Parts: sequence; C-alpha cells; structure tokens
Amino acid sequence: MAEQGPTALYDRAEHAARTLRGRTTLEPRIAIVLGSGLGGFAEEFGDAVAIPYREIPGFVSSTAQGHVGSLIIGKVDNIPVAAMQGRVHFYEGYSLEEVTFPIRTLKLLGIDTLILTNAAGGIDVQLTQGALMVISDHLNLMGVNPLRGANDERFGPRFPDMTEVYSRELQELVTQEARVLGTTVRRGIYAALAGPSYETPAEIHMLRAFGADAVGMSTVPEAIVARQMEMNVIGISCITNMAAGISEQTINHQEVMETGEKVRITFTQLLRRIITKLP
Ligand code: HPA
Repeated sequence: MAEQGPTALYDRAEHAARTLRGRTTLEPRIAIVLGSGLGGFAEEFGDAVAIPYREIPGFVSSTAQGHVGSLIIGKVDNIPVAAMQGRVHFYEGYSLEEVTFPIRTLKLLGIDTLILTNAAGGIDVQLTQGALMVISDHLNLMGVNPLRGANDERFGPRFPDMTEVYSRELQELVTQEARVLGTTVRRGIYAALAGPSYETPAEIHMLRAFGADAVGMSTVPEAIVARQMEMNVIGISCITNMAAGISEQTINHQEVMETGEKVRITFTQLLRRIITKLP
C-alpha cells in the first residue's frame, strides 16, 4: 500500500520542502519558474541537483511540450537558486491547488523572492515577437482563484491585498538591468486566460479594451499564492507571437517554442543580472 502522507495542504507542502532539504545542502532564497521554451537557463547552474517532480511528494508532472518537469537547485554566480524547469497549467486539467503547490513548497523551503517567467502573446502593438515585458499588474480571467477553499492562516490571510502583486522596486530593477544589457523591456499588464485554445481576435479586442498588454495561460495563480505568503514577486513575459488578430499570422505552439529559443541568450543574461542584483 502507498505510504500515507499528511493531509492538510500546509503539512503536505512542509513534507515536500523536507524532501528537498534532504537532496541539497544549499539554502536558496530566490526561486524562478521557467516558462515554455525558457527552461534552458537552469542548465547553466553550478553545483546543481535536478529533482524530477515525480520524486517530490505532492508535485504533479507537466504534460506540456517544452516543460521538462524538474526542480533544479544550484548556484548562479555563487548565489543559491531554485528553478522550476517547467510548470503545470490549469488547462492540463490540474486544480489550481495542484498548480500552485510548488510555490507553497518553495515558500516553506525559505524562498522569499519569486521570479515568474512565461511565454505570452503580445497585444500592445509594440510588443512584437521576441520582446520581453516586465509584468506590472495582471488580470485574472481564468474564472477561478487559487485561494478558493479552506484557508490555512499559516500561509497568510483569507483576503490578501493585491494592490502590488509585482514589486515596484523589483520592476525597476529589471528595467535597469535590461538597459545595462542594451535591451529595452516594456512594462505591461498580463491577462491570464484558462486556455488551452488561443484567443479569438474578438477576445483579444476585449482584452485590449480591458487594458491588457499581453496574454497567456499561466503565472497569475502562482503570483496570487506567492503574494498571499508575502513573497516578493517578479513577472517577465517573453512575447513569442502577436496575439490573435493583431498581426495577420495564425498562432502555433511550435512558433512559441522557437521564439523562446531565440531570445534565450538575452533572457538568460537578464535573469543572471537580476539574480546577482536582488536585495
Ligand atoms: N495566447 C495565449 N497564450 C500564449 C500566447 C497567446 O497568443 N502565446 C504564448 N502563450
């Protein structure tokens, strides 16, 4: 019979965090979630251990192409960092509790700054293929909230404030470090939809009227949970395509993956700089 684990969410996350502590002596305070096509960054880590999600109690495995499904704990310029190489999505059929369980675990592991990255479609006309966007705020249009259900006050309040989900100070840091690298990153609002179909031009028209600059199918549940637990959050979108109807082209996942690969060098340089400059 399978081993009986703890049942309360907090205890399950604690159990997972304990498992991770048993696999490394590093004590990272920074974690990064690598989105579609962006997993390559973790391959540069020094003294790294890669722990497949299936070996971490409570973690579920990604079915999406381009998402590897390992937690890498290693060093970036001597700074310990935990990186999720691949995430699971709501559209895969997982609950948002399952989607955000790794974030709960990372908090209990000692992470206080979380960098969320994703592939997104550009709605603002200046956000063309290959552009990077720092997320300044979001629209949760998934139709669900990851905090729905019983609340455990050990994680945070029932009704957490969401006035500044993405730290303004850290948005500024990202912008500055991009400038040093000679690239510009624009700030913008990220709209999260449930997916998995891409949007229709009419939906993109609506999102534009709502104030969205980019659209995707992830990140927002993780950001909400992270803020409830008072983590500092950074969000960076890699614009892999222009959203439906913004350009003449249709959208396909292959293109999304290839753009991720093309911006890889700039993207990893930027991440490296951010990590070394974090307060
Ligand atoms: N829409 C939603 N999600 C996405 C897109 C898009 O155009 N591109 C990459 N992820």
